[in-house]
Amino acid sequence: MNVLSELRGRFAAALAGLTDDPTDLLALVLPSQGPKFGDYQANCAMPLAKRIGRPPREVAEEIISKVDVGDLCEAPEVAGPGFVNLRLRDDWVAAQTQRLLADERLGVVPTEAPRTLVIDFSSPNVAKPMHVGHIRSTVIGDALVRVLRELGHTAISDNHIGDWGTQFGMILYGVKHLADADRLAARPVDELGRLYKLVSRLAGYQEAKRALPDAQRAAERAKQRVDALSSRTMPLNKDEQKKEAKAARDAEQQYAAQRETLEGLQKRIEGVEAEPELQKLADAHPKIGKRALEETAKLHSGDAENVALWKQYLPACLEELNATYGRLNVTFDHTLGESFYHDALAGVVDDLKAKGIATQSDGAVCVFIDGQDAPMIVQKQDGAFLYATTDLATIQHRLKTWQPDAIVYVVDHRQSLHFEQLFAAARKWGVDDVELTHVAFGTVLDEDGKPYKTRSGSAVGLMGLLDEAVERARAIADQSPALETDDQRAAAAERIGIGAIKYADLAHNRTSDYVFSYDKMLAMQGNTAAYLQYSYARVRGIFDRGGVDPAALRKQSPAILLGHPAERALAMALLRFPEALERVAADYRPNHLTSYLFELASRYSEFFEHCPVLKADDPASRDSRLALCDLTARVLQRGLGLLGIQAVERM
Ligand code: ARG
Repeated sequence: MNVLSELRGRFAAALAGLTDDPTDLLALVLPSQGPKFGDYQANCAMPLAKRIGRPPREVAEEIISKVDVGDLCEAPEVAGPGFVNLRLRDDWVAAQTQRLLADERLGVVPTEAPRTLVIDFSSPNVAKPMHVGHIRSTVIGDALVRVLRELGHTAISDNHIGDWGTQFGMILYGVKHLADADRLAARPVDELGRLYKLVSRLAGYQEAKRALPDAQRAAERAKQRVDALSSRTMPLNKDEQKKEAKAARDAEQQYAAQRETLEGLQKRIEGVEAEPELQKLADAHPKIGKRALEETAKLHSGDAENVALWKQYLPACLEELNATYGRLNVTFDHTLGESFYHDALAGVVDDLKAKGIATQSDGAVCVFIDGQDAPMIVQKQDGAFLYATTDLATIQHRLKTWQPDAIVYVVDHRQSLHFEQLFAAARKWGVDDVELTHVAFGTVLDEDGKPYKTRSGSAVGLMGLLDEAVERARAIADQSPALETDDQRAAAAERIGIGAIKYADLAHNRTSDYVFSYDKMLAMQGNTAAYLQYSYARVRGIFDRGGVDPAALRKQSPAILLGHPAERALAMALLRFPEALERVAADYRPNHLTSYLFELASRYSEFFEHCPVLKADDPASRDSRLALCDLTARVLQRGLGLLGIQAVERM
């Protein structure tokens, strides 16, 4: 049972006589801020009082007189300006907890309003090594799929890989002009990765060289403006002074931005010029970026050679991706990449034009969106389609194929503008019966606050990252006396290491950036996977030591005794598992579940400190405490599982 939903249901009935639409008021029935306010709080009296023009405490009293919660709560109390504090009855908490013992689903009831959701996540560009940002999408998306399914929704996972875009043109150019034939035959994925990096570096270099003079001039102009403003005499008038100061600040900011652009270009140029071999290649392959684009265009127009090369190399790229997914224990229902939609793109643009949604502008076909200066381009002057065009075709396909209630995109926040435009364009196009949500997430930073990169300066390869985490986790496994053989230690290290990376991605509020730190994510104390895995193993250890079979205990279904506050607090935490899942689904934030599990482990730890289990005073309290232990272990294991993290039996 979801206690919060149950309470809201009871309040809905009570509020029905007081207001027409209690929906927003029900959202104010919440878990309490602390134990002295009870277990839950209903804060709906104040806004309701305003609405109906009566004193809030009086309204609170009336709500209390109407709400029928006697079977689960002590008598509700009005506090302060009109808060209603609710404390669950101990006998009710005990009975509910006891019921969980036999409940395979640990209190999670399948929703009465199941939805179909397409979750678009991971979605890397193939042949380009996946990086730390793609893990974040993979891990968050996978957790969302698992939680939604656990709640009874249909979640369709679709990996919208980039297997058709500019990066493939770079590879095609590389394969034709820069490849090492032996390496390409022996280790195609490595060689393709090298070629991709090489071509994009050379293209970046040439592009930077072209852009440099303009950038230098712009920086010079910005500097002149700063100098001019700073040498002006201060006006006497206060308002004018303020205006001047603001102008000076703006100019400083602009100058700083221009300098940053300039430095970026210079770095790219110096990087290549520092390596004579690269410099030579750059000279020998002029306009390489443009030529790579031409290769992409040829691929798109069905050029036999390019299509054959694409078909030849795509499987190797996919295999590489799948190796990573295997290691992360992530699967997809569908992997419909950009190439899958190619044949639909012309039709999408035609339809947009026919309906007057897209118009010709400067030779390109554009969708203009209210309130935005820049249009969304769906076809370039040279006839090429874009990322956005593919995404429109993808929406069309998903609607037709699965009739979803929602399409959820788990993608880096840097693509926010793209999704804003995409959704607005889709609405214009008549897509209105489906929720479209960009589940954005922040950047993974290094300890200096810069986007996380490897020493070589490229975005971190995912496999290397996982290897290092597992290697470091090995140190934890090696210290554990509970792990006896080398195999056991290796298996535990894999779970601890991969779990650490995933958990760090999930536990941080997804919209903020976070600092990637092996030391923090592998800490044995605090809100980490290692701590939860350890907590789980510790609970299981009690059953081993006591020679107790958890299955037999569940069958026996002992009464739950809540004599000690720590026992009650633990039971309350156990009952709140369904609420945590509901919250994850409500705003697509897995960190509600990590916080919940951390809270549960903390409650358990207090319980363990105060309440002897195997050495309890009498058999009844021993069995009750064993039951609480069993439930804790099961909720921890299930909760971690829903995050895509495996528990460790011994640690
Ligand atoms: N391939 C893109 C990238 O790596 C992400 C795609 C996200 N999904 C989508 N439907 N646009 O940046």
